[in-house]
Amino acid sequence: MSESPQHHGQWSSRIAFIIAASGSAIGLGNIWKFPYLLGENGGGAFVLVYIACVIGIGLPIMMAETMIGRRGQRSPIHTMTVLAKEAKATPLWQIAGWLGVLAGFLILSYYSVIAGWSMAYLFKMVGGFMDQVGPEEAQQVFMDLKAAADVQLVWHSLFMALTTAILMKGLTEGIERVTRVMIPSLFLMLLALDVYAATTPGFWEGMTFLFKPDFSKITPDSLLIAMGQAFFSLGLGMGSIMIYGAYLPKNVSIGRSSVIVSIADTAVALMAGIAIFPVVFSNHLPPSMGPGLIFETLPLAFSHMPLGALFGSLFFLLVFFAAITSAIALIEPAIAYLIETFDYSRQKASAIACGVCWFLGLGTLGSFTGGNQWQWHGKTFFELIDFVTADVMLPLGGILIAVFAGWVMKEKVSAAELDLGRYLRYWQIGSRYIAPLAVTLILLKALGLF
Ligand code: PHE
Repeated sequence: MSESPQHHGQWSSRIAFIIAASGSAIGLGNIWKFPYLLGENGGGAFVLVYIACVIGIGLPIMMAETMIGRRGQRSPIHTMTVLAKEAKATPLWQIAGWLGVLAGFLILSYYSVIAGWSMAYLFKMVGGFMDQVGPEEAQQVFMDLKAAADVQLVWHSLFMALTTAILMKGLTEGIERVTRVMIPSLFLMLLALDVYAATTPGFWEGMTFLFKPDFSKITPDSLLIAMGQAFFSLGLGMGSIMIYGAYLPKNVSIGRSSVIVSIADTAVALMAGIAIFPVVFSNHLPPSMGPGLIFETLPLAFSHMPLGALFGSLFFLLVFFAAITSAIALIEPAIAYLIETFDYSRQKASAIACGVCWFLGLGTLGSFTGGNQWQWHGKTFFELIDFVTADVMLPLGGILIAVFAGWVMKEKVSAAELDLGRYLRYWQIGSRYIAPLAVTLILLKALGLF
């Protein structure tokens, strides 16, 4: 293992870190999943619960994970090993790092297939192939895409190739340069889409749907859904923010940066809802369609609206930007590990890690293209990977990180790294008690244990 903490380089500035970390957080989870969950779980009431989860659970874990990363200065696996040694704790803590690296591989393998769909739709929108389609045609286009292994293979491969190319360029020339352009333009595009949504007839219906609290719809289930979503959306529990923290200069405030990233992530989720639902309601479409929502309903809606092709193209470009800036964060822990352990060049490590993801993605692709009837306990390959990562590995990683930072690391060390002043107490309450307890509940629930 590398003993050299400066192996990988550093972010060029505080802003570079904040933008890259926002890129990791803002992803497919914000754009289709959040609005849809919100619609099903009480609208405005769900928003309040979600925000409470971000503040009470997400924020302390994000600070803990970033802090662990910066203290360790290495890939999550080696960081956990080194810090466990520093705290005179068992080396088994490296399991938290392994979990993260593995989860990153698994998530990216299917993330890339779905991101490929957004590229396919961008292509369809720009090419005018979705002009004036009817409801059945729009549904058919989506079904055809999901059935066409060859078409999906092309987009999945292209998405992975682009991800690899960015990662090969390294920290400043690759990740920083791409996120610096994509994340601000993502905000601007979303803003443009929000303004556009405000001109549609369904705007107020959409806003009511999104923001009018109906507390009777809040159930124990929806509380857990909000917690799980906060976790996935902030990109916690799997080493992404840990490795980004490892590249963070010592003089940057972890507390302030984490607050900014959490606000940005939540803002994008809400802005996506504001862009999507008015368009859905203006066209009298059903709001809660899950994964199909943005692919089946939106193209249909855009195809019948003034300037719809333009805004529809913008929308799918936005989804693509959100996905690729998360993809690079998902696989970076594995790349750093390969570089440290085998002394590979960044190019070689990126090619190997992304190649493995590409290969695993073929399983997801197969599970969409009807031909594959392989199932395990009633779950397709995609559903299985989604379940194991989002519902089991991330929460488990999150608990380990919160407990390690809150209980195992010496208080002197964590207090010095975090430099939170009088807010330190709040962080400690969050990472010692609230986060581990709350996330344990998510985990038990996911495993059907209560
Ligand atoms: N946060 C990303 C999203 O919302 C997904 C992600 C998870 C990225 C974990 C990095 C780490 O889509």
